Amino acid sequence: MAAIARSLPRMTVKLAGQTDLDGWRTAARALAMKGVPADQVGWTIAGNASADLFAGTDHAASEALPGADSTTFTVPRAFVELAETVVCHRDPERFALLYRVLYRLREEPHLMKIGSDTDVRRLEAMAKSVRRDIHKMRAFVRFRRIGGGPDDRHVAWFEPDHFIVEANAPFFVRRFTGMRWTILTPLASADWDGTRLTIGPGATKTDAPSEDDAETLWRTYFASIFNPARLKVKAMQAEMPKRYWRNLPEASLIPDMIRGAEEKAREMVEKQPSEPAPHHAKIQARHWPAPPAGDSTTQDGADARTLAELSRTAESCRRCDLWRDATQTVFGEGPAPARVVFVGEQPGDHEDIAGKPFVGPAGRLLDGVLVEAGVDRDAVYVTNAVKHFKFEPRGKRRIHARPNAGEVKACRWWLDHELALIRPDLAVALGATAAQSLLGKPVAITKLRGQVIVRDDGLRVFLTVHPSYLLRIPDPADRDAEHGRFLADMKAVKALMG
Ligand code: URA
Repeated sequence: MAAIARSLPRMTVKLAGQTDLDGWRTAARALAMKGVPADQVGWTIAGNASADLFAGTDHAASEALPGADSTTFTVPRAFVELAETVVCHRDPERFALLYRVLYRLREEPHLMKIGSDTDVRRLEAMAKSVRRDIHKMRAFVRFRRIGGGPDDRHVAWFEPDHFIVEANAPFFVRRFTGMRWTILTPLASADWDGTRLTIGPGATKTDAPSEDDAETLWRTYFASIFNPARLKVKAMQAEMPKRYWRNLPEASLIPDMIRGAEEKAREMVEKQPSEPAPHHAKIQARHWPAPPAGDSTTQDGADARTLAELSRTAESCRRCDLWRDATQTVFGEGPAPARVVFVGEQPGDHEDIAGKPFVGPAGRLLDGVLVEAGVDRDAVYVTNAVKHFKFEPRGKRRIHARPNAGEVKACRWWLDHELALIRPDLAVALGATAAQSLLGKPVAITKLRGQVIVRDDGLRVFLTVHPSYLLRIPDPADRDAEHGRFLADMKAVKALMG
């Protein structure tokens, strides 16, 4: 809780800690209501040497301002959200800046919408820097194992730019719930004993253990996923700035890899096969026996009584031309009946090979977010608007190509029959193609995201983005923000599921 020392004409608010948002909020609200201008208030942190300069008679924020003006004013949500992030910034001026903007909001209620305003821009830049730091911590924390057996514990050393440990700790709890771990940083530490999270003081690097077996594992992994032909040194350094390298076991490999990359890329180009991968022909032959000469008819599945029957019939679908290049039909998967069905666009490269929906990178992202939102993937049915992978070959790679309206319409036959057998009361449209198939017309996802549209047959359709959209966002901070929005959508789905 913050305390206010009054040494007129300036007031000094002493906050309990570096990210004491509650303390700041209580004091700031009281001061703003009392009409105390921003240049009359100083903000310090208890325990800081500078805080003692302002030592005086301390009062709780609410007591210190008797006679406070009772007029209230509403603070826009955008400011509240920005403040939650900005308090984690390392700039000692952050609390003063936040109070200045809060004070201005009394007279300028639309201030947060003025992107050119110096104060607003500064707050947004600070929030962006904090979000980026949060993302870097998630990407670059590397645990080292200490102890063994029941005393096994993992410790990581990380050097953040800002006071983000407390804000970021719940992410690590979710990601490493079953592990006992401690993250040490110069600013604060976080400890998870398997049931309880404790935030403690900062530490020094010598408190963290050095080298363990996991280091070698990381190096081997990094070397094996390294593709010299795709090396872009500048992009890599932007994503993995050099200052993080010293704490990353795999970073010791980078200089040599950069040196050898050009040579290796040339070798790879020379070796590149011109034939399609052998698995393609093999799987295709299994699923696509050549139809008898002159026979262009196929079973249509209209009388299928189970999903298994329907999916077997779909194996020989010729409703559009996509079957020709795809490895196999990728049908939906999940229980029937099911209350919820998730509909994607079409199988990707991985799904085409595996014959199962959402098992590649977009599927892994979806799985993770469903776990975070508390939705059990095994209890929902997952399928696609289009059941064959559409792609353009580029060298050895197959690049995703968007299905056209005719292909979506042709494949709707299968989706309609799946829905008739599953009888869900909620369908989640992951992206525009799924929405188009479910609603029978093009839909602007960016405008309608998060909304539910009820079809004539009573099926509720929840609209959101496709998870692969998140994978394509280049800026890590923006990607994180979108991840948060997608998670919120999945939580809304969870709520709709009842
Ligand atoms: N994208 C989709 O829309 N569906 C999948 O199955 C995989 C990726």
